[in-house]
Amino acid sequence: MKRLFNLILACLLIVSLSACGKQARADSPADKVSNQNRQAESVETTEQTEQEQSAASETAQTKAETENDMAGGQEQQTQGGGNTMTGDISFNFETKSVLLNSGYEMPIYGIGTYSLTGDTCVESVTAALNSGVRLIDTAYMYHNEESVGEAVRNSGIPREEIFVITKLYPNQFDHPETAIEEALAKLDIDYIDMMLLHHPGTGDVEAYLAMEKAVADGKIRSLGLSNWYVEELEEFLPQVNITPALVQNEIHPYYQENDVIPYIHSHGIVVQGWYPLGGRGYTAELLGNEVISEIAAAHGKSSAQVILRWNLQKGVVVIPGSSNPDHIQENTELFDFELTEEEMGRIGALDRGEKHDWY
Ligand SMILES: NC(=O)c1ccc[n+]([C@@H]2O[C@H](COP(=O)([O-])OP(=O)(O)OC[C@H]3O[C@@H](n4cnc5c(N)ncnc54)[C@H](OP(=O)(O)O)[C@@H]3O)[C@@H](O)[C@H]2O)c1
Repeated sequence: MKRLFNLILACLLIVSLSACGKQARADSPADKVSNQNRQAESVETTEQTEQEQSAASETAQTKAETENDMAGGQEQQTQGGGNTMTGDISFNFETKSVLLNSGYEMPIYGIGTYSLTGDTCVESVTAALNSGVRLIDTAYMYHNEESVGEAVRNSGIPREEIFVITKLYPNQFDHPETAIEEALAKLDIDYIDMMLLHHPGTGDVEAYLAMEKAVADGKIRSLGLSNWYVEELEEFLPQVNITPALVQNEIHPYYQENDVIPYIHSHGIVVQGWYPLGGRGYTAELLGNEVISEIAAAHGKSSAQVILRWNLQKGVVVIPGSSNPDHIQENTELFDFELTEEEMGRIGALDRGEKHDWY
Protein backbone atom coordinates (compact mmCIF):
# COMPACT_ATOMS: atom_id res chain seq x y z
CA MET A 1 0.00 0.00 0.00
CA LYS A 2 2.80 2.33 1.02
CA ARG A 3 4.70 1.37 -2.19
CA LEU A 4 1.55 2.15 -4.24
CA PHE A 5 1.22 5.54 -2.51
CA ASN A 6 4.94 6.33 -3.26
CA LEU A 7 4.45 5.32 -6.91
CA ILE A 8 1.45 7.69 -7.29
CA LEU A 9 3.42 10.48 -5.59
CA ALA A 10 6.42 9.96 -7.96
CA CYS A 11 4.12 10.05 -11.02
CA LEU A 12 2.52 13.30 -9.83
CA LEU A 13 6.00 14.80 -9.33
CA ILE A 14 7.16 13.82 -12.86
CA VAL A 15 4.00 15.25 -14.48
CA SER A 16 4.38 18.55 -12.60
CA LEU A 17 8.15 18.86 -13.43
CA SER A 18 7.48 18.21 -17.13
CA ALA A 19 4.81 20.96 -17.17
CA CYS A 20 7.30 23.36 -15.52
CA GLY A 21 9.88 22.39 -18.14
CA LYS A 22 7.52 23.29 -20.95
CA GLN A 23 6.79 26.64 -19.34
CA ALA A 24 10.51 27.28 -18.82
CA ARG A 25 11.32 26.53 -22.48
CA ALA A 26 8.56 28.82 -23.70
CA ASP A 27 9.93 31.67 -21.62
CA SER A 28 13.61 31.08 -22.42
CA PRO A 29 15.47 34.16 -23.75
CA ALA A 30 16.21 32.35 -27.02
CA ASP A 31 12.52 31.73 -27.62
CA LYS A 32 11.66 35.31 -26.71
CA VAL A 33 14.12 36.55 -29.32
CA SER A 34 12.86 34.16 -31.94
CA ASN A 35 9.24 35.10 -31.15
CA GLN A 36 10.15 38.75 -31.40
CA ASN A 37 11.93 38.07 -34.69
CA ARG A 38 8.88 36.27 -36.03
CA GLN A 39 6.71 39.19 -34.93
CA ALA A 40 9.15 41.66 -36.50
CA GLU A 41 9.25 39.59 -39.68
CA SER A 42 5.49 39.54 -39.80
CA VAL A 43 5.38 43.34 -39.31
CA GLU A 44 8.05 43.70 -41.99
CA THR A 45 6.16 41.40 -44.34
CA THR A 46 2.99 43.41 -43.73
CA GLU A 47 4.93 46.62 -44.34
CA GLN A 48 6.50 45.17 -47.46
CA THR A 49 3.12 44.04 -48.74
CA GLU A 50 1.70 47.45 -47.93
CA GLN A 51 4.64 49.08 -49.61
CA GLU A 52 4.26 46.88 -52.66
CA GLN A 53 0.56 47.61 -52.73
CA SER A 54 0.96 51.33 -52.27
CA ALA A 55 0.73 53.26 -55.49
CA ALA A 56 3.30 55.83 -56.59
CA SER A 57 1.02 58.52 -55.20
CA GLU A 58 1.46 57.18 -51.66
CA THR A 59 5.21 57.08 -52.12
CA ALA A 60 5.04 60.64 -53.32
CA GLN A 61 3.02 61.65 -50.28
CA THR A 62 5.52 60.03 -47.90
CA LYS A 63 8.30 61.71 -49.83
CA ALA A 64 6.52 65.04 -49.58
CA GLU A 65 6.36 64.59 -45.80
CA THR A 66 10.07 63.77 -45.68
CA GLU A 67 10.73 66.72 -47.94
CA ASN A 68 8.83 68.96 -45.56
CA ASP A 69 10.99 67.67 -42.72
CA MET A 70 14.20 68.12 -44.65
CA ALA A 71 13.48 71.19 -46.71
CA GLY A 72 14.10 73.65 -43.88
CA GLY A 73 13.19 77.05 -45.25
CA GLN A 74 11.07 75.61 -48.04
CA GLU A 75 7.35 76.08 -47.65
CA GLN A 76 5.41 73.40 -49.47
CA GLN A 77 1.78 72.52 -50.07
CA THR A 78 0.26 69.37 -51.45
CA GLN A 79 -3.09 69.75 -53.14
CA GLY A 80 -5.66 67.45 -54.71
CA GLY A 81 -4.57 64.75 -57.16
CA GLY A 82 -1.37 66.37 -58.30
CA ASN A 83 1.34 67.74 -56.13
CA THR A 84 1.48 71.49 -56.04
CA MET A 85 4.22 73.04 -54.03
CA THR A 86 5.31 76.53 -53.34
CA GLY A 87 8.61 77.50 -51.91
CA ASP A 88 11.89 79.31 -52.16
CA ILE A 89 14.96 77.73 -53.59
CA SER A 90 18.10 78.85 -51.87
CA PHE A 91 21.61 77.80 -52.78
CA ASN A 92 24.10 77.07 -50.04
CA PHE A 93 27.26 78.82 -51.26
CA GLU A 94 29.33 77.21 -48.50
CA THR A 95 28.52 73.62 -49.38
CA LYS A 96 28.03 74.70 -53.03
CA SER A 97 24.83 72.68 -53.11
CA VAL A 98 21.07 72.91 -53.07
CA LEU A 99 18.54 70.74 -51.27
CA LEU A 100 16.11 69.25 -53.78
CA ASN A 101 12.44 68.68 -52.99
CA SER A 102 13.23 64.94 -53.22
CA GLY A 103 15.32 65.27 -50.06
CA TYR A 104 18.64 64.82 -51.89
CA GLU A 105 21.39 67.41 -52.08
CA MET A 106 22.78 68.39 -55.48
CA PRO A 107 25.88 70.45 -56.36
CA ILE A 108 25.07 73.84 -57.92
CA TYR A 109 27.78 73.61 -60.58
CA GLY A 110 28.79 70.71 -62.77
CA ILE A 111 29.86 69.63 -66.24
CA GLY A 112 27.64 69.16 -69.28
CA THR A 113 28.61 66.40 -71.69
CA TYR A 114 26.66 67.24 -74.85
CA SER A 115 28.84 66.50 -77.91
CA LEU A 116 31.51 64.79 -75.81
CA THR A 117 31.79 61.12 -76.76
CA GLY A 118 34.12 58.15 -76.31
CA ASP A 119 37.55 58.87 -74.83
CA THR A 120 36.98 62.64 -75.01
CA CYS A 121 33.99 62.23 -72.72
CA VAL A 122 35.82 59.90 -70.31
CA GLU A 123 38.78 62.32 -70.17
CA SER A 124 36.61 65.43 -69.74
CA VAL A 125 34.51 63.90 -66.96
CA THR A 126 37.68 62.59 -65.30
CA ALA A 127 39.25 66.07 -65.48
CA ALA A 128 36.08 67.53 -64.00
CA LEU A 129 36.02 65.03 -61.14
CA ASN A 130 39.72 65.78 -60.49
CA SER A 131 38.83 69.50 -60.35
CA GLY A 132 36.23 68.84 -57.67
CA VAL A 133 33.15 68.73 -59.93
CA ARG A 134 30.55 66.31 -58.57
CA LEU A 135 27.60 66.99 -60.88
CA ILE A 136 27.51 65.46 -64.37
CA ASP A 137 24.82 65.96 -66.99
CA THR A 138 24.37 63.35 -69.70
CA ALA A 139 21.47 62.04 -71.81
CA TYR A 140 20.46 59.06 -73.92
CA MET A 141 20.73 61.34 -76.96
CA TYR A 142 24.37 62.29 -76.22
CA HIS A 143 25.43 58.66 -76.83
CA ASN A 144 27.87 58.87 -73.95
CA GLU A 145 26.19 57.35 -70.88
CA GLU A 146 28.71 54.46 -70.99
CA SER A 147 31.64 56.91 -71.01
CA VAL A 148 30.21 58.95 -68.14
CA GLY A 149 29.70 55.75 -66.15
CA GLU A 150 33.26 54.62 -66.92
CA ALA A 151 34.73 57.90 -65.65
CA VAL A 152 32.59 57.77 -62.49
CA ARG A 153 33.49 54.15 -61.74
CA ASN A 154 37.22 54.69 -62.38
CA SER A 155 37.41 57.87 -60.32
CA GLY A 156 37.79 56.17 -56.95
CA ILE A 157 35.38 58.76 -55.57
CA PRO A 158 32.60 57.24 -53.42
CA ARG A 159 29.52 56.81 -55.60
CA GLU A 160 27.24 58.76 -53.25
CA GLU A 161 29.44 61.87 -53.62
CA ILE A 162 28.72 62.10 -57.35
CA PHE A 163 25.40 63.27 -58.81
CA VAL A 164 24.60 62.02 -62.31
CA ILE A 165 21.69 63.33 -64.37
CA THR A 166 20.49 61.56 -67.49
CA LYS A 167 17.44 62.01 -69.71
CA LEU A 168 14.87 60.05 -71.65
CA TYR A 169 14.34 61.28 -75.22
CA PRO A 170 10.80 61.51 -76.68
CA ASN A 171 11.47 58.53 -78.99
CA GLN A 172 11.75 56.46 -75.77
CA PHE A 173 8.48 57.66 -74.21
CA ASP A 174 6.51 54.72 -75.61
CA HIS A 175 8.76 52.16 -73.84
CA PRO A 176 9.98 53.99 -70.72
CA GLU A 177 10.57 50.92 -68.53
CA THR A 178 13.02 49.44 -71.09
CA ALA A 179 14.59 52.86 -71.61
CA ILE A 180 15.21 53.26 -67.87
CA GLU A 181 16.78 49.79 -67.70
CA GLU A 182 18.98 50.69 -70.69
CA ALA A 183 20.19 53.87 -68.99
CA LEU A 184 20.95 51.95 -65.79
CA ALA A 185 22.88 49.32 -67.76
CA LYS A 186 24.85 51.84 -69.83
CA LEU A 187 25.80 54.01 -66.87
CA ASP A 188 26.44 50.96 -64.65
CA ILE A 189 26.71 53.04 -61.47
CA ASP A 190 24.06 51.23 -59.34
CA TYR A 191 21.43 53.96 -59.49
CA ILE A 192 20.61 57.18 -61.33
CA ASP A 193 20.65 60.33 -59.21
CA MET A 194 18.20 62.13 -61.45
CA MET A 195 16.35 61.39 -64.65
CA LEU A 196 14.71 64.07 -66.79
CA LEU A 197 12.36 63.98 -69.74
CA HIS A 198 14.41 65.68 -72.47
CA HIS A 199 11.53 67.72 -73.88
CA PRO A 200 7.74 67.46 -74.13
CA GLY A 201 6.41 64.82 -76.51
CA THR A 202 3.69 62.22 -77.02
CA GLY A 203 3.52 59.94 -73.97
CA ASP A 204 5.53 62.23 -71.70
CA VAL A 205 3.13 61.85 -68.74
CA GLU A 206 3.20 58.04 -69.04
CA ALA A 207 7.00 58.11 -69.28
CA TYR A 208 7.16 60.27 -66.16
CA LEU A 209 4.83 57.90 -64.30
CA ALA A 210 7.19 55.05 -65.24
CA MET A 211 10.06 57.07 -63.80
CA GLU A 212 8.01 57.51 -60.61
CA LYS A 213 7.76 53.72 -60.40
CA ALA A 214 11.56 53.50 -60.82
CA VAL A 215 11.91 55.94 -57.91
CA ALA A 216 9.73 53.67 -55.76
CA ASP A 217 11.94 50.74 -56.84
CA GLY A 218 15.13 52.59 -55.83
CA LYS A 219 16.50 52.77 -59.38
CA ILE A 220 16.24 56.56 -59.70
CA ARG A 221 16.47 59.04 -56.82
CA SER A 222 15.03 62.29 -58.18
CA LEU A 223 12.99 63.29 -61.22
CA GLY A 224 12.92 66.33 -63.43
CA LEU A 225 11.98 67.86 -66.76
CA SER A 226 13.86 69.68 -69.47
CA ASN A 227 12.53 72.31 -71.86
CA TRP A 228 9.27 72.75 -69.97
CA TYR A 229 8.05 76.34 -69.68
CA VAL A 230 5.15 77.92 -67.79
CA GLU A 231 2.29 76.69 -69.99
CA GLU A 232 3.75 73.21 -70.32
CA LEU A 233 4.31 72.97 -66.57
CA GLU A 234 0.79 74.14 -65.76
CA GLU A 235 -0.60 71.35 -67.91
CA PHE A 236 1.90 68.70 -66.80
CA LEU A 237 2.18 69.09 -63.02
CA PRO A 238 -1.43 68.18 -62.10
CA GLN A 239 -1.05 64.89 -63.98
CA VAL A 240 1.87 63.51 -61.97
CA ASN A 241 2.37 62.44 -58.38
CA ILE A 242 5.97 63.40 -57.70
CA THR A 243 6.69 67.08 -58.23
CA PRO A 244 9.83 67.36 -60.41
CA ALA A 245 12.89 68.30 -58.39
CA LEU A 246 14.46 70.22 -61.28
CA VAL A 247 13.72 71.84 -64.63
CA GLN A 248 16.64 72.22 -67.06
CA ASN A 249 16.13 74.94 -69.69
CA GLU A 250 18.19 77.11 -72.02
CA ILE A 251 19.44 80.09 -69.99
CA HIS A 252 22.24 82.55 -70.80
CA PRO A 253 22.58 86.36 -70.84
CA TYR A 254 20.94 86.56 -74.31
CA TYR A 255 18.05 84.24 -73.30
CA GLN A 256 17.34 84.78 -69.63
CA GLU A 257 13.88 83.29 -68.97
CA ASN A 258 13.24 85.94 -66.34
CA ASP A 259 9.52 85.08 -66.30
CA VAL A 260 10.00 81.30 -66.19
CA ILE A 261 12.62 81.04 -63.43
CA PRO A 262 10.49 82.58 -60.62
CA TYR A 263 7.52 80.47 -61.73
CA ILE A 264 9.55 77.25 -61.46
CA HIS A 265 11.06 78.32 -58.14
CA SER A 266 7.61 79.12 -56.76
CA HIS A 267 6.80 75.41 -57.12
CA GLY A 268 9.82 74.42 -55.01
CA ILE A 269 11.62 73.23 -58.16
CA VAL A 270 15.32 73.91 -58.83
CA VAL A 271 16.25 75.51 -62.17
CA GLN A 272 19.31 74.38 -64.15
CA GLY A 273 20.52 76.22 -67.23
CA TRP A 274 21.78 74.60 -70.41
CA TYR A 275 23.98 76.49 -72.90
CA PRO A 276 25.16 78.72 -70.02
CA LEU A 277 27.91 80.09 -72.26
CA GLY A 278 25.59 80.41 -75.24
CA GLY A 279 26.33 76.97 -76.69
CA ARG A 280 28.92 75.97 -79.29
CA GLY A 281 29.06 78.44 -82.14
CA TYR A 282 27.83 81.27 -79.91
CA THR A 283 30.37 81.33 -77.09
CA ALA A 284 32.88 83.68 -78.73
CA GLU A 285 30.28 86.42 -79.12
CA LEU A 286 28.89 86.02 -75.63
CA LEU A 287 32.28 85.76 -73.91
CA GLY A 288 33.45 88.78 -75.92
CA ASN A 289 30.44 90.88 -74.92
CA GLU A 290 31.67 94.30 -73.81
CA VAL A 291 29.64 94.53 -70.60
CA ILE A 292 30.56 91.02 -69.51
CA SER A 293 34.25 91.57 -70.36
CA GLU A 294 34.27 94.82 -68.37
CA ILE A 295 32.73 93.19 -65.30
CA ALA A 296 35.16 90.27 -65.66
CA ALA A 297 38.14 92.64 -65.76
CA ALA A 298 36.87 94.47 -62.65
CA HIS A 299 36.89 91.20 -60.69
CA GLY A 300 40.03 89.73 -62.23
CA LYS A 301 37.94 86.82 -63.52
CA SER A 302 37.13 85.48 -67.00
CA SER A 303 33.91 86.23 -68.90
CA ALA A 304 32.90 82.57 -68.53
CA GLN A 305 33.26 82.81 -64.75
CA VAL A 306 31.18 85.99 -64.63
CA ILE A 307 28.36 84.39 -66.64
CA LEU A 308 28.40 81.27 -64.49
CA ARG A 309 28.44 83.37 -61.29
CA TRP A 310 25.55 85.50 -62.63
CA ASN A 311 23.55 82.29 -63.07
CA LEU A 312 24.32 81.11 -59.53
CA GLN A 313 23.29 84.47 -58.04
CA LYS A 314 20.00 84.17 -59.96
CA GLY A 315 19.45 80.72 -58.42
CA VAL A 316 20.30 78.80 -61.60
CA VAL A 317 22.50 75.69 -61.46
CA VAL A 318 25.24 75.66 -64.13
CA ILE A 319 26.53 72.77 -66.23
CA PRO A 320 28.99 74.28 -68.74
CA GLY A 321 30.31 71.83 -71.31
CA SER A 322 34.03 71.57 -71.95
CA SER A 323 36.73 69.16 -73.01
CA ASN A 324 39.52 71.56 -72.07
CA PRO A 325 40.94 70.77 -68.58
CA ASP A 326 41.91 74.45 -68.06
CA HIS A 327 38.37 75.61 -68.84
CA ILE A 328 36.95 72.81 -66.68
CA GLN A 329 39.07 74.00 -63.74
CA GLU A 330 38.24 77.66 -64.45
CA ASN A 331 34.52 76.83 -64.42
CA THR A 332 34.79 75.62 -60.81
CA GLU A 333 36.34 78.86 -59.50
CA LEU A 334 33.10 80.72 -58.96
CA PHE A 335 33.03 81.21 -55.23
CA ASP A 336 35.79 83.74 -54.50
CA PHE A 337 33.95 86.76 -55.88
CA GLU A 338 30.45 88.24 -55.93
CA LEU A 339 28.66 90.35 -58.52
CA THR A 340 27.11 93.54 -57.20
CA GLU A 341 23.43 94.33 -57.74
CA GLU A 342 24.46 96.89 -60.30
CA GLU A 343 26.52 94.29 -62.20
CA MET A 344 23.67 91.78 -62.03
CA GLY A 345 21.42 94.48 -63.46
CA ARG A 346 23.82 95.29 -66.29
CA ILE A 347 23.96 91.62 -67.35
CA GLY A 348 20.17 91.43 -66.89
CA ALA A 349 19.83 94.25 -69.41
CA LEU A 350 21.57 92.11 -72.08
CA ASP A 351 18.52 89.86 -72.46
CA ARG A 352 17.33 89.79 -76.06
CA GLY A 353 15.16 86.67 -76.04
CA GLU A 354 17.63 85.03 -78.40
CA LYS A 355 17.24 81.28 -78.25
CA HIS A 356 20.18 79.22 -79.50
CA ASP A 357 18.29 75.95 -79.91
CA TRP A 358 14.73 74.97 -80.72
CA TYR A 359 13.56 73.01 -77.66
N1 LIG B 1 18.35 69.57 -72.01
C1 LIG B 1 18.69 70.07 -73.17
O1 LIG B 1 17.87 70.21 -74.07
C2 LIG B 1 20.10 70.47 -73.39
C3 LIG B 1 20.47 71.08 -74.59
C4 LIG B 1 21.77 71.45 -74.76
C5 LIG B 1 22.70 71.25 -73.76
N2 LIG B 1 22.33 70.64 -72.59
C6 LIG B 1 23.31 70.41 -71.51
O2 LIG B 1 23.90 71.64 -71.18
C7 LIG B 1 25.31 71.51 -71.21
C8 LIG B 1 25.97 72.82 -71.55
O3 LIG B 1 25.74 73.16 -72.89
P1 LIG B 1 26.88 73.07 -73.97
O4 LIG B 1 28.01 72.29 -73.45
O5 LIG B 1 26.28 72.59 -75.22
O6 LIG B 1 27.23 74.61 -74.19
P2 LIG B 1 27.96 75.69 -73.26
O7 LIG B 1 28.31 75.13 -71.95
O8 LIG B 1 27.17 76.94 -73.32
O9 LIG B 1 29.27 75.96 -74.11
C9 LIG B 1 30.21 74.98 -74.33
C10 LIG B 1 31.35 75.63 -75.10
O10 LIG B 1 31.97 76.57 -74.25
C11 LIG B 1 33.37 76.38 -74.23
N3 LIG B 1 33.85 76.68 -72.88
C12 LIG B 1 33.55 76.03 -71.73
N4 LIG B 1 34.14 76.61 -70.69
C13 LIG B 1 34.84 77.66 -71.17
C14 LIG B 1 35.67 78.64 -70.58
N5 LIG B 1 35.89 78.66 -69.29
N6 LIG B 1 36.23 79.56 -71.40
C15 LIG B 1 36.01 79.56 -72.73
N7 LIG B 1 35.24 78.65 -73.34
C16 LIG B 1 34.66 77.70 -72.57
C17 LIG B 1 33.59 74.95 -74.63
O11 LIG B 1 34.79 74.80 -75.32
P3 LIG B 1 36.02 73.97 -74.70
O12 LIG B 1 35.65 72.54 -74.82
O13 LIG B 1 37.16 74.38 -75.54
O14 LIG B 1 36.19 74.40 -73.27
C18 LIG B 1 32.41 74.66 -75.56
O15 LIG B 1 32.73 74.97 -76.88
C19 LIG B 1 25.50 70.44 -72.28
O16 LIG B 1 26.81 69.92 -72.26
C20 LIG B 1 24.44 69.48 -71.90
O17 LIG B 1 24.83 68.68 -70.80
C21 LIG B 1 21.04 70.26 -72.41
